[in-house]
Amino acid sequence: MPEKLRNIIEDIARDFLNSSLTLRYDICTCNQCRNDMLAHILSHVPAKYVTTEEGALHTIMQQTRVEHQAEIARAILQAVDIIGSNPRHKLKENRAETFRLLLEKIHEDRNIDFRHYHQDLLRRRVAVRIRALGLPSYSEYLRTLISSPGEYDRLFEVLCINVSEFFRDPEVWVKVRKLFETAIRNKKAGHEKSIRVWSAGCANGEEPHTIAILLREILGAELSGFTVEIIGTDVDKKAMETARAGEYEKNSLKNMDKALADKYCPCKAGVCKVDDRIKNMITIKYLDLTTNDLVTDCDFVFCRNVFIYFDRGLQEQILMKFYNGLKPGGHLIMGKSETLIREATTIFDAVDAENRIYRKKTE
Ligand SMILES: C[S@@+](CC[C@H](N)C(=O)[O-])C[C@H]1O[C@@H](n2cnc3c(N)ncnc32)[C@H](O)[C@@H]1O
Repeated sequence: MPEKLRNIIEDIARDFLNSSLTLRYDICTCNQCRNDMLAHILSHVPAKYVTTEEGALHTIMQQTRVEHQAEIARAILQAVDIIGSNPRHKLKENRAETFRLLLEKIHEDRNIDFRHYHQDLLRRRVAVRIRALGLPSYSEYLRTLISSPGEYDRLFEVLCINVSEFFRDPEVWVKVRKLFETAIRNKKAGHEKSIRVWSAGCANGEEPHTIAILLREILGAELSGFTVEIIGTDVDKKAMETARAGEYEKNSLKNMDKALADKYCPCKAGVCKVDDRIKNMITIKYLDLTTNDLVTDCDFVFCRNVFIYFDRGLQEQILMKFYNGLKPGGHLIMGKSETLIREATTIFDAVDAENRIYRKKTE
């Protein structure tokens, strides 16, 4: 009987389509457009009718899903491209414009300029909040930010991905240790007794703490005769509080030598507390890299896994900032997936390209 038959391709396609649309805040995804997309998909994938009383319906669905997933995925891509970018109706929201307004609002209210961040990455992150609140559009989200400013905290949590760990990419720190040793040896030879390090985008503070541990280990008893300044900066105030508190889960110490971890970050009941001797070597400050602010006179600048957010124009600007923040011959250490671009390749020498360690040219 026809009413007992069901096209399971339709169920599967609707399911796939809904999951692929959850991330698409750049096109119209209203019900009408969704239905148009589904109709497009169904006209490109053969129907498969089964009776709704079929005992093995679940298994048949699973098999059909596997058999047709490539075909359905292709049809979804086409449908999203054709219908998403040319909806039948007039667009209710100019998404690009509302998104621009949203970024302007954030800039105005919180003084963080996300306009030159990678827009696709930002859209995906904002989409996480929009979905969590069950809102239909950027404009609704903009209204929510106005009526409930507390939402900013949650938005920044998803925008500022502040994952880090002590001795992240351990092989880099083996090289950094050698550079620290050389720098201190040279300073001692020149009767200079200070070292200044900037950790830009320091998140929860694992990076500046790692730097402090290394310098303390290298200097040993001579530390008291040396001025060591380690300045960790970020825009995420919650992460900065964690950095100041210096309390971490055991997992963030997983790259650390056990003896070193026990010496400087002993763990009790799963909480590892950084020793005051290390904490006191660090200052955590708010500094937005997209502004003109910088830390000057640095021997070392660490800016790792922060550039992913920025477009090339902003990256170039920030690289110039680091150039200006470093003393001649000072070192810049970037993240393993980041690299110097454009003009910056001519003003820094690669000391260790694989580990993204560069030296400011002395002219
Ligand atoms: C993934 S964490 C990197 C932490 C650490 N450097 C590391 O490599 O483990 C990226 C950090 O960059 C920060 N960030 C993003 N935009 C920034 C900006 N405009 N100025 C300063 N920090 C920023 C985020 O808040 C986040 O804490």
